[in-house]
Amino acid sequence: MVSPRLIVDTGVLRNNIEIMQEAANTAGVALRPHIKAHKNAEIMRFQLIAGASGITVSKLGEAEVMAEAGATDIFIAYQLIGEDKYCRLAKLRQSARIAVAVDNTEHCRALDAATPHDKPLDVLIEVDSGLSRCGVLPQDVLGLAREILTLSKLSFRGIFTHAGHVYGVSAQDVARIGTEEALLMVACADQLRSQGIAVDVVSTGSTPTALHNLKVNGITEIRPGNYVFNDAIQVGLGVVDESRCALFVEATVISAPSATRVVIDAGSKVFGLDKGAHGMSVVTGFGRVLGWPELIIERLSEEHGIITYTGHGPTLGQKLTIIPNHACVAVNLADRIVSIPGEVSWAISARGRVD
Ligand SMILES: Cc1ncc(COP(=O)(O)O)c(C=O)c1O
Repeated sequence: MVSPRLIVDTGVLRNNIEIMQEAANTAGVALRPHIKAHKNAEIMRFQLIAGASGITVSKLGEAEVMAEAGATDIFIAYQLIGEDKYCRLAKLRQSARIAVAVDNTEHCRALDAATPHDKPLDVLIEVDSGLSRCGVLPQDVLGLAREILTLSKLSFRGIFTHAGHVYGVSAQDVARIGTEEALLMVACADQLRSQGIAVDVVSTGSTPTALHNLKVNGITEIRPGNYVFNDAIQVGLGVVDESRCALFVEATVISAPSATRVVIDAGSKVFGLDKGAHGMSVVTGFGRVLGWPELIIERLSEEHGIITYTGHGPTLGQKLTIIPNHACVAVNLADRIVSIPGEVSWAISARGRVD
């Protein structure tokens, strides 16, 4: 058997997909999962069959791969800048309904200029709900929406946010961030509507905040991504327990140099060096070794994972199953993922598509 390799437990995966879909259905809210978490056509199909309204992507390259694999309704939650991107966008729009993110007047004008008269482009304004990444501040949403309404080839569909700062708080603050994210977006939408501006989409979401968003009336869509796998960061944040993790690195002990240290054949080229996305670390080491809570993956070099422990440890040649800290990064580092049971190999077809 190949080692190291990435495996996905399809039972847990499909259960995760169903739980999120059912929660969205019960709240009467659309689920538009972010596929950057898995970059895989099979998993996207599971999500669409379960009832997802469409998909979210970060990059045009991901959208191109997923459109080829059958996606017909794609939100590119990313600012597309440059003529080469506009050409690719025009081509993509021949096979799928596309909406794109905007957060700047100049950008909107460039997009408008690149859009044909007979095919207006759906745009959603990105709102900064606390992450301080892209997005306009809540008080600037109305101004940008008014600008968009003056541009004849852009069609204003609504607003979206991603409260990624949730990854920088401790477990007891996750619910509060999720509620604040949703309340802020509903308030923005109400303000636009009070000025006579139609807002079809009020879109929020991350894996930690999605279920909390759903408790607030007025959200129309959630966009979690990582929830299909859940990873050690989600466990550390208290979002799920280990039984809900679906993605694992399977690695082999290749060296046992001392009574307190073994080395596995997976390093930073398999796990990535992630210890948490936006700030505080909620994890210990570089992954959770299933069935061995006392093992700490203390260091990674490119091809080696250095595990330390006290007491009884694994032996040479032993296989370890490890929940990676950040599933989305681990997936993007591998060519294939093996689904279990059944040992079917799936191509991670949008891996590396950061273009
Ligand atoms: C814009 C946007 N939406 C949704 C998500 C999904 O969030 P998560 O990975 O927490 O599920 C992300 C993640 O980075 C994002 O950037």
